[in-house]
Parts: sequence; structure tokens; C-alpha cells
Amino acid sequence: MAKGSPVQALYELCRRTFSPSCAAASPLEARKIVSLLDSIRPEDVGLGNPDLDGEDDDERGLGFFGRDLFRNFSSSRTGRWSPPITYLHIHECENFTIGIFCLPTSSVIPLHDHPGMTVYSKILYGSLHVKAYDWTEPACLHSNGQVRLARLEKDTVLTASSPTSVLHPKTGGNLHCFTAITSCAVLDVLAPPYSPSAGRFCTYYHDYPLSYFAASSTMPDGAQEPAEEDHAWIARIQSPEDLYIRQGRYNGPSVQDYVP
Ligand SMILES: [Fe+2]
Repeated sequence: MAKGSPVQALYELCRRTFSPSCAAASPLEARKIVSLLDSIRPEDVGLGNPDLDGEDDDERGLGFFGRDLFRNFSSSRTGRWSPPITYLHIHECENFTIGIFCLPTSSVIPLHDHPGMTVYSKILYGSLHVKAYDWTEPACLHSNGQVRLARLEKDTVLTASSPTSVLHPKTGGNLHCFTAITSCAVLDVLAPPYSPSAGRFCTYYHDYPLSYFAASSTMPDGAQEPAEEDHAWIARIQSPEDLYIRQGRYNGPSVQDYVP
């Protein structure tokens, strides 16, 4: 516990902001969360100083233990080796989750969604390619019944100097895929958390170029013809077998309520 630590301040701000009846922050509250996340450095969450660490930085200060698997993601060891991703849990309650994903170079978190959720993501160190989509509305299903049209929202590289990015239930790139260009870490605030019992599952998808399938016959009336460069067909897939996310030990300051 570290009273006054940035992560404690983030926790307290989230606690004041999110409630069962209010999963979405007001614009003012959202700006406060973004501003606070923007100020958080790796050392504030126990990740040391990435600039001073050596080639072993993929496992810097993570304190790995065991092979517990992050419950929202399907994970398994398979014949094809994939660089392991580590999740550092900071806090979860019924209203929000705070945690850090540490991705080794070249690791991938495949395209997945955040149903009914808002997610704030701050890159703590390294470079991360983010590709993100939102479903087109009204829904446009291909006549093959297998894929749905989505609009490309982001196709960019984020670094520690990038501002916190925010996705919303229907905007901002609610479906996204991460590819680590270098070893990197992402501090996430999810509100509300994934919750299978509340119908908020993490579903995985595959994106196909628009031209991959023959023209659809089910475009909504009056809808504009989608452009190849910023649209894709999205197919739901099984949880990827080669995605392996292990839980690490969070070494930063813990968070807790203070009794006045
Ligand atoms: Fe995500």
C-alpha cells in the first residue's frame, strides 16, 4: 500500500467514477482518468526503468510465478510456441478492473471485443501496433451469414509518449488486436469488467479484407458502399489455442480503501 501513489489515485478516481448504475464516465471524469493515466510511469507500477534495463527486459521485474491463466482469455501450451504474455493484476471489483499486460516483442493479443465496456489503455513502455474496428450500424451481415462488416477505427503504433487511448461500447475501436513491435506494457482500466455471468464475454475474431468475399447482398437499404481501405469483414472464431497469458506478480504499490 502506498497512500498517495499514482496507482492509488487512479483506484480512488475509478471508485468515485464507476458504479453499478454508471459504467461510463462523464466527459469531465473521463478527462481526469486520461490525465492521470498519462502521468503514470513504469516505475509507478513496479516495472523499473525500462531505459536502464538490459536485453532481458521482456521479463523485467514481473515476478512470474506459476502458470495461472487469466480467466478472460483462453490460454494453452500448444506445439507452436508463442511468446508468453503476462498479466499483472492490480484491482478488480464489480465496477472496474485495473491491470497491466506485458507483451514480449512480436507477441500478439488477437482481435477481441469489449462488449458494453469502456477501456482506457496507456502504454507504459515500448511500441505497440494497434488495429481496431467498430461494427458498422445498422449491422451489415454478409449473405454468407458468416461475417459482419466493421469499420477500421485505428491502425497505428502507440508508444509511451502516446496519450491514453479510450474505446467505448460502440466507438473508439471496441474490437482490437495488439502486436508488440518491441517489448511493451499496457496499463488498462476496464469499466465494467468482463463478466460472463453478466453477459460480457471476451470473444475473438478474425478480420478479412472486404474483397475476400464476393459482394454482399445484405447491405442495409440506403447504406453507402463500404470502402476497401477502411472496412473489413469480421468473423467470430474460437479462442486462439496459441494465445498464452500467464499471471505475474504485481510488484507496484497496492491499492486499498482508507477509512477516514
Ligand atoms: Fe482488449
